Amino acid sequence: MKRIAILCSGGDAPGMNAAIRSSVRNAVYKNLNIFGVMRGYEGLIDDDIIELNARSVSNILSRGGTILKTSRSPRFFKESERKKAGDNLKKRSIEGLIVIGGNGSFKGADEFAKETGIQTVGIAGTIDNDICGSDYTVGADTAVGTALDAIDKIRDTVTSMERIYVIEVMGRDEPFIAIRVGLAGGAEDVLFPDNEYNIKDMCDDIGKGREKGKVSWIIVVSEGVAKAGDVADVIKDNTGYEVRAITLGHIQRGGSPSAFDRVLASRLGAAAVDVLVDGKRSGMVGIVSDKLNFVSFETACKTDKEKKRLDREIYNLTKILAI
Ligand code: F6P
Repeated sequence: MKRIAILCSGGDAPGMNAAIRSSVRNAVYKNLNIFGVMRGYEGLIDDDIIELNARSVSNILSRGGTILKTSRSPRFFKESERKKAGDNLKKRSIEGLIVIGGNGSFKGADEFAKETGIQTVGIAGTIDNDICGSDYTVGADTAVGTALDAIDKIRDTVTSMERIYVIEVMGRDEPFIAIRVGLAGGAEDVLFPDNEYNIKDMCDDIGKGREKGKVSWIIVVSEGVAKAGDVADVIKDNTGYEVRAITLGHIQRGGSPSAFDRVLASRLGAAAVDVLVDGKRSGMVGIVSDKLNFVSFETACKTDKEKKRLDREIYNLTKILAI
């Protein structure tokens, strides 16, 4: 293993740059040549590949987004396009590829590794924290911090004007952000997949809360369950109270990565190079109970039952503390 490449794929996440920096510097330290693929699988197909060195990654540790840019690539679903992508690496004698992304990217990486024989290693990089085989994904901690900062600010007006606010946060199918900001932001309720969406119970709760002197409410909605505006309308119709809806949106993907994400990304970025050098054919590096872990792409894309159990535990505590 003398020449490797690195790319980012799917939605950007804070800490991707920290992971790139770590992979590049560890590769240089181990006397490997390392190449950056621009715009994810799109750039791999289009041969948009540049050589990197230790200085190419100066001053990016604290920057959000990704210097390599990223994309979602429907073209990479096609075997013929994956072959073209593989040929672009082979003509440069690149034998290993690091993919920083989420489960969609890993499904593509798995097929790419099997079809082309190019060693392919993933680093879990997504704000959704929806990857099995790593307790945390790069960017999730920062996204929770960003959403929480917004919710803390919204609470000032919630309390001052004695209103009900419904706040929608990102997370596709996984409610990591919703569950964490629910507890950390003192929300009265969290709507998330697997949590039965019973608007009648919620409206009854709001009525009972008013009788006990509770005058302001924050309800966090995980994207994918419902739109904040729709939930707000139903609450308004059922209770007669004033309700506002806010969707936090893509601000949750931006900003400087937290210390936690920088440490995680730096450990995983270096580990990805190490496992390529060790000869691993395909799979993902993650961290479980603070120790480095390696799982197949297939496992990485499975549902993580432990994360689901933890979500429920944290949600139950949120409800107890919201009395
Ligand atoms: O995967 C990260 C994520 O931000 C999800 O939380 C969200 O559902 C999705 O990406 C949004 O994707 P896009 O930026 O392509 O609209």
